[in-house]
Amino acid sequence: MSARYLLLLGVVTGLVAGCGESGPPAVTPPPSAATPAPSPAAPTPSTAASAAADAALPAPTPQSIAARKLDPEKIKRGATVYRANCASCHGLNAEATPNWREQGADGRYPPPPLNGSAHDWHHSTATLEKMIREGSPGIGGMPAWDGKLTNQEIDDVIVWIKSLWPDEIYDIWYQEIERKQKH
Ligand code: HEC
Repeated sequence: MSARYLLLLGVVTGLVAGCGESGPPAVTPPPSAATPAPSPAAPTPSTAASAAADAALPAPTPQSIAARKLDPEKIKRGATVYRANCASCHGLNAEATPNWREQGADGRYPPPPLNGSAHDWHHSTATLEKMIREGSPGIGGMPAWDGKLTNQEIDDVIVWIKSLWPDEIYDIWYQEIERKQKH
């Protein structure tokens, strides 16, 4: 198990504890973990650890997508659903806008990224589905898609979103969120 994995695990354990379903997306920099305790078994340069929460995480490869058992047909269909319905707010590649962490004058936060760099991967498949179906009425600004998209379209777009998540994010999501079905 790599030091980066351990670090990310620490980050997600901390975040998930305070994880609301609709609050502003929270990305907390890793605590003092940039100076890992010296370990004779696995000496790790501190720079590797401090970069862990950055976008430098390995992007998914065709192999890792296959290992996730994500159906390529669903990914393809999900991309189409996403472009038609979601890209206008969440960004063409689900990367959102650079200011997505800043509250607007109306008290709303811009739509967050869905590419694994924010908060989306803190939710199980069931919760993601619920969020997409119900949206966030009121202050949140996420439309409800229940009845507007078919069950298959919702399922497909979730699979597409998961195909974007970096390998280490996906692994932690699977171990800590999806398998435990807590969020
Ligand atoms: C009108 C703009 C808009 C559109 C269109 C839109 N969203 Fe959103 N979405 C938002 C906003 C704003 C939020 C943040 C809601 C909040 O903080 O309560 C959000 C949140 C989410 C979240 C939760 C993310 C998290 O980090 O917890 C998911 C998942 C999501 N959207 C998926 C989708 C999908 C899939 C579509 C297309 C079917 C879509 N959205 C279309 C504005 C939009």
